[in-house]
Amino acid sequence: MEAPREEWRSKAGFILAAAGSAIGLGNIWRFPYMTGENGGAAFVLIYIFFVIFIGFTIMLAELTIGRHSQRNAVGAFEAIFPKTNWRFIGVLGIITGIGILSFYGVVAGWTLGYFFKTLLGDFSHLSGEKAAQDIFVGFIRNPVSEIVYLFVFIALTVFIVSGGVSEGIERWTKILMPFLFLLLVLLVIRALTLGSGVSEGLSFYLKPNFSALKPEIFILALGQALFSLSLGMGAMITYGSYISKRENLISSAGYVVFFDTLIALLAGLAIFPALFAMGMTPKGGPGLVFLVLPSIFEKMPFGIVFGACFFLLLSIAALTSTISLLEVAVAYFIDERHWSRVKAAVLTGIVVFVVGVPSALSQGASKWFDRIPLVHMPFLDFMNALFGNYALTIGSFFISIFVGWKWGIAAASKEIELGAEKFSLRPIWAFSVRFFAPLAILIILIYLIVTGRFF
Ligand code: PHE
Repeated sequence: MEAPREEWRSKAGFILAAAGSAIGLGNIWRFPYMTGENGGAAFVLIYIFFVIFIGFTIMLAELTIGRHSQRNAVGAFEAIFPKTNWRFIGVLGIITGIGILSFYGVVAGWTLGYFFKTLLGDFSHLSGEKAAQDIFVGFIRNPVSEIVYLFVFIALTVFIVSGGVSEGIERWTKILMPFLFLLLVLLVIRALTLGSGVSEGLSFYLKPNFSALKPEIFILALGQALFSLSLGMGAMITYGSYISKRENLISSAGYVVFFDTLIALLAGLAIFPALFAMGMTPKGGPGLVFLVLPSIFEKMPFGIVFGACFFLLLSIAALTSTISLLEVAVAYFIDERHWSRVKAAVLTGIVVFVVGVPSALSQGASKWFDRIPLVHMPFLDFMNALFGNYALTIGSFFISIFVGWKWGIAAASKEIELGAEKFSLRPIWAFSVRFFAPLAILIILIYLIVTGRFF
């Protein structure tokens, strides 16, 4: 007899764990710099639109597949339609998870490094943008610390995932997420009271200027929505497989989407007013928050304490996301290959680390990886676009086709209704899974192929 599948201890436990997966660097690092690079408020509006009409749809679809099959991302498709090619959606998800984790681990390493730097007072006498820039560039150029931090971060992830689902993942998230939220609110308050420049920042962030809209923004905003919600690669299928049949999947999906979006919007509200108040440019790229945040903390009473706490919490938020990225592969090896949890976590972790090294060295540490031929960008940025954007978009397309057309709305709704009294959103959800989500994704991808605007 097989042991019963591990389950989340409670509804709050699940929501926190799934929100822990969703909330991470995607909200606080990626969202602000994508917004900054792509025109501000117009990008934000399109992003919110995709969160509501595609993000929520795919979130519910993934959780339903997971809970129905009670399996990992590959096994779930195998359980619903054995011996079909649908399982390759799951295989793509495992590869995507490893791809994302490899560069995500590098940036997560930066946050850990910034925790120590803040604590040691490196930022206590910052004199403008130049000084913040020098510290950041010096830091990411150092090959030894880049690799050590990547290693430490992946090792921490492996350690927690080895501990199992409810013990490891649930316990951490529950305690720490509320603190991150609180600190973010404090940061917003400080940023909004910085004086001149604040209103300029607010209008960049909140007043859309559609005339500057480039067509690529659609794929970038969609990719950002999926990335931020951990969708398109089976993380939510895997987490959904640990939800009890009694839970309401609709409201669970709703809470996760809501909290994730709230945190991203708050992060923007802290960054942009501060950025303009300090006279920096919004097009700072992947370094943006590492340039802006230390400068805000420097202007706060007890800035060192707040700053250090913030970077520590951000590292932990990143950790609860890396856990879910690793868990997709680990759950597969446990369920389908009968590996032990520890073996699965350690071996996958080693692969992730090796794949991550070029990203770690691509920010100035080595000439080999700082400009990849053809795409003309650093290796980290390339992995970010390839896996963080395109792979998730393609994965979400197939997930919506699977649920909408192959498995079917009726079968999926039956699973959803197990824990929900009524599913009044059903017609809207059905329309979105069958038509809106896949067509919108298809149109965007075809446009990119035809115009050759991929990278
Ligand atoms: N959603 C996470 C974040 O915002 C990243 C992530 C993407 C996690 C895909 C799992 C799957 O940081």
